[in-house]
Amino acid sequence: MFDLIGNHKRTHYAGRLNKQNAGQKVTLMGWVHRRRDLGGLIFIDLRDVTGMVQITFRPKEKVAHEKAGNLRNEYVLAVIGEVVLRDESNINKNMPTGEIEISATDLLLLNGSEPLPVQINENILAEEDLRLKYRYLDLRREKLKRILLLRHEIVFAIREFLVRHDFYEIETPILMKSTPEGARDYLVPSRIHHGKFFALPQSPQLYKQLLMIAGYDRYFQIARCFRDEDLRADRQPEFTQLDLEMSFVNQEDIFKIMEELFQYIFKKTIEVDLQTPFQRLSYTESMNRFGIDKPDLRFGMELIDISEIVKNSEFKVFSNALESGGSVRCVVAPGCAGYSRKQIDSLTDIAKHLGGKGLAYCKVEEGTLTAGISKFLTAAEIKGILKITEAKDGDLILFAADSNKLVFKVLAEIRNHFGRELKLYDEKEFSFVWITDFPLFEYDEENRKWETAHHMFTLPKTEHLAYFENETDWGKIEGQLYDLVCNGMELSSGSIRCHRLDIQRKIFKVVGFSDEEAEEKFGFFLNALRYGTPPHGGIAPGIDRIVMIMSGADSIRDVIAFPKTLQAADLMSQSPSEVSQKQLDELALKIVKTQSHRDTESTE
Ligand code: AMO
Ligand code: AMP
Repeated sequence: MFDLIGNHKRTHYAGRLNKQNAGQKVTLMGWVHRRRDLGGLIFIDLRDVTGMVQITFRPKEKVAHEKAGNLRNEYVLAVIGEVVLRDESNINKNMPTGEIEISATDLLLLNGSEPLPVQINENILAEEDLRLKYRYLDLRREKLKRILLLRHEIVFAIREFLVRHDFYEIETPILMKSTPEGARDYLVPSRIHHGKFFALPQSPQLYKQLLMIAGYDRYFQIARCFRDEDLRADRQPEFTQLDLEMSFVNQEDIFKIMEELFQYIFKKTIEVDLQTPFQRLSYTESMNRFGIDKPDLRFGMELIDISEIVKNSEFKVFSNALESGGSVRCVVAPGCAGYSRKQIDSLTDIAKHLGGKGLAYCKVEEGTLTAGISKFLTAAEIKGILKITEAKDGDLILFAADSNKLVFKVLAEIRNHFGRELKLYDEKEFSFVWITDFPLFEYDEENRKWETAHHMFTLPKTEHLAYFENETDWGKIEGQLYDLVCNGMELSSGSIRCHRLDIQRKIFKVVGFSDEEAEEKFGFFLNALRYGTPPHGGIAPGIDRIVMIMSGADSIRDVIAFPKTLQAADLMSQSPSEVSQKQLDELALKIVKTQSHRDTESTE
């Protein structure tokens, strides 16, 4: 029933044919995307990796025509025929190959296909779980193919650019000792050393610094990273970084090379001209204006601090927040005064969901504030608020009163919500911004201890070194840390590293690491710092997120060939999965059944 491929050779790709090929005899190989039987004529759209072309089987080519009568969707074929121009009236403008078609003279049926459990049609998408189970079929979809091939182009452009700029691509281990990057490690038990574990890298951070110590000057790697953390739309447990590191550089050098790199890949792969230098915002300014360290700068609607105006307010929500050291801030949603009770309640729910106590509001009508909490405000307060916010009739003002941390969290989310809801930005715009001057340490109220805000191996600003002397000053120490943000997404994070052991020890002291603890966790690294460590720094853009931004994908799962679900599982290969008793015995591991274990069993 099936034909053998024998000596048949493909001469062309389907999607690359055009009217220049008219008159040529071609052999194409691919899948039946669609079949239409018009009485005598049979049409199929033949699909391969490059696209599609229409094949016509005419009754006069008896053998081919008869075989074509048995074709079903997704059968695999070799088609031999001639490229012919379509009549003016039959040109399909929606198809890149729509000016031509192949008049088939022969057909090989290379393989059949059972009816698909998921359709390869953007308009009738099956449920995501089913698509993930049959990922190899879902990947036949045009949209996913376009994204994955763009990803390939992007990674190729990155390699091309960096190699030309004297970077060396060097691989670092996947089985390693855990590095303190903040998330939970994926552990790998050792068969040879019972009771001991490797960790999969959360990032190659320490190795890339060791490569600088080793004298390799400029390193990069397309590095797979693993983090066992709670997942979201822009996070996967297994993801890819462009990890890079440079010796003898400062922050400006890193910014420059990254701006040139992004400019290069955007131009080369999607023909977008990025304006450089990118904007810059200090962490403090970003928080004050947008409530977040990854602001979407494609639209305004900035946060406005009205604490001063309402400092004597009779409205308890405001005065309580101010008395306990917090602030009162607001955002103005343009033209939203007509919002219904229900719409406002759903905004309040967003605030509450984030831990806020509520969300107060007023409408702007006839030059004054009405509805909501307006009855609690004095005429002077209303005047002050209208002046500072420049709100106009028809606007809605939303207020948060709480600790600064909560106010920022709530209003940043509300601002982003309106950005999307009111389409305040152009989807096609790319707005890059460097966020700089991050604090090096944060006080963890819950555990009553200082922690590094990013990671331990960052060089503090030289002018802040004196602050290490007094604990009361530790919060003021800023690190040479920077993030690159685009359209509200953190694309990259990096820092100038601490190349001096004496300063590194000061950092350990702040986070309460004893010498023994530091020695046990990364003695190998501290040791290396003794032997001529050059000043160095680097950065690591997330490749998945770059592809998301550049392709416009909403979910990180759309830019990864074989992604995990939000529950960190692979539905296609059904992993993670149990292993045999023999494997456990070799590793000297014993499974202890927990409640979650029993819960999973009962749902299976
Ligand atoms: P950081 O932890 O900030 O820094 O990660 C750098 C970038 O990696 C991407 N990223 C992720 N992408 C998808 N899923 C995830 N779970 C995930 N986590 C991070 C983001 C992020 O900006 N070693 C440092 C970098 C350095 O200092 O050079 C690091 O890993 O795009
Ligand atoms: P209440 O006095 O709790 O009934 O709240 C009056 C209004 O203030 C309601 O619209 C609440 O959503 C809002 N509200 C309560 N707490 C806060 C807060 N911390 N920040 C902003 N608005 C709040």
